[in-house]
Amino acid sequence: MCGIVGYIGEGDAKEVILEGLEKLEYRGYDSAGIAILKDDVIQIVKKSGKLSILNDYLEKNPISGNLGIGHTRWATHGAPTESNSHPHYSEDRKVVVVHNGIIENYQQLKKGLIEKGYKFESETDTEVIAHLYHSLYKGNSIEALKNLIQLIRGSYALGIIHSDNKDELLCCRNESPLIIGIGENENFIASDVPALLKYTKKVHFLENGDYGKITKSNIELYDINNNLVEREVNTIEWTLEQATKGGYEHFMIKEIHEQPETLRQTLERVVNYHDYSINFEEIIKKDELEKIENIHIIACGTAYHAGLQGEYMIEKIAKLPVATEIASEFRYSNPFVDKKSLCIFVSQSGETLDTILAMKECKKRGAMTLAITNVVGSTISRDADKVIYTMAGPEIGVASTKAYTNQVLNFFLLAIYFAELKECISSDEKKLLLEEVKKIPQQIEVLLEDLELIKETSEYFKNVTNGFYIGRGLDYKVALEGSLKMKEVSYIHTESLPAGELKHGTIALIEEGLPTVVLCTQTELLEKSVSNIRELKSRGSYIISVTNEENTEVIANSDVTLLIPKTIDILSGLLSVIPLQLLAYYTSLNKGIDVDKPRNLAKSVTVE
Ligand code: M6R
Repeated sequence: MCGIVGYIGEGDAKEVILEGLEKLEYRGYDSAGIAILKDDVIQIVKKSGKLSILNDYLEKNPISGNLGIGHTRWATHGAPTESNSHPHYSEDRKVVVVHNGIIENYQQLKKGLIEKGYKFESETDTEVIAHLYHSLYKGNSIEALKNLIQLIRGSYALGIIHSDNKDELLCCRNESPLIIGIGENENFIASDVPALLKYTKKVHFLENGDYGKITKSNIELYDINNNLVEREVNTIEWTLEQATKGGYEHFMIKEIHEQPETLRQTLERVVNYHDYSINFEEIIKKDELEKIENIHIIACGTAYHAGLQGEYMIEKIAKLPVATEIASEFRYSNPFVDKKSLCIFVSQSGETLDTILAMKECKKRGAMTLAITNVVGSTISRDADKVIYTMAGPEIGVASTKAYTNQVLNFFLLAIYFAELKECISSDEKKLLLEEVKKIPQQIEVLLEDLELIKETSEYFKNVTNGFYIGRGLDYKVALEGSLKMKEVSYIHTESLPAGELKHGTIALIEEGLPTVVLCTQTELLEKSVSNIRELKSRGSYIISVTNEENTEVIANSDVTLLIPKTIDILSGLLSVIPLQLLAYYTSLNKGIDVDKPRNLAKSVTVE
């Protein structure tokens, strides 16, 4: 949930770390800090609030050195105050630690350390590590780190520097991500790739249990069994430009605009339009699918909403029963999962702890696991039996947009692929589906051309505190996503409901001027949706419909209609979500909210 950057080399550690932290602010931004070793002394500067506050301070009060670690925090233990910010010192100011994750047994460790005379300055679990390392250090840093890891329980990525070992940067990981960047006479650690792209594209992804010692010219790594290991050198193909704003005001709007291109890339990679074949043979083979009796899709937040569309697509196209479940609930539900189950885990970051733990549960029960993720080398991608990469490129805005549409597209293609393996789709049907989906990127481009009406509609939202998003069938699943987008970036309370469910209670809340976004794209359900619109309108609700121009009844009964191009019903979610993403974005802007970093949220949720 936090961002870590560490540097050892001949350059200015402060500069590398601050630049890296800026790229990681999406992981947490309620405080930031840096520790730099100069001569024999480690100097720490930390500030609560955004990274810019730390930056401003360091401009006026510069520090320099060739070894350092930095951190941007999303508070889990203790308020986002300066004293709780990382890095944390040992009592003698010689050991400094940055940490991402949660040390579950920190209370017990803290008690033991206090008994030994250690004094604590913060409420964090992380400070325990600094003191514990100090107590274990007997002249050999790797020994101390190895012993430390044996004592701590929980999720962690750690960066440690010790002024007794001026040429070493220590690191380790368990459940929380950490990579090592490989440079020339310099090396790096970071929580995520964008932090290092300016300096190197060569990285090691650490495995759970890995720990090691980094100097400017050497990387010494040990695995969970204390064997010296050489991890693969991965070359990152993202450009720095891809990982930065590229001329847009915010990442969220940039990422919304990237959707045509990323969807096109996915189609190009997965579909061969010469013979309409789908390139998923590596993912699952016919005999493997034949053994599967049930499919579970498991995810959180927006990825869960993509899973709901996936469920609909697999059931409709491949005629296989699917249950979509929220990862944090699934894990404790004693699920009906066994070796005849296929469990699909959807996660943009590949680091969401709830999803990781749900996957572990499924593996324990013998299920086949398939990850749909955006991050190569992420924990979920490495733990799963099979992986589909969404290839949406780095998604930095906290609100997920392009990852969502890529997840949905991959589900659509997977559904067709499963149908083909099951021989329950004709080649004409398949061709029709694949031709329709080929039009989607261009149809989104059309949607993105004229944003005036959406901007005007967002003005209406500026002054409201509540709203509804409703739809029937597939439209309801998109309504859930539209509502979540609005909530997280505009702080307006919105609720999403199946349109037919309103009259069973919630309609009591409808009053003059309350906005309801009504998705109307499913041909069979249109008449019913029009009736819902009338019910709402007669009670004073302000109706914003999302539909195509053929649905004149919907348009006539709405206050505003956000038109989308016509497609087949099953693909409409890929189009109808676009105005909803935009509506949330412009509402956030109108309200002066930091849209890429809304309050209380972090891009990657690596705690339970
Ligand atoms: O990285 P993941 O896809 O696993 O993240 C899951 C959710 O935390 C994420 O989708 C969250 O709901 C987003 N903020 C939504 O925009």
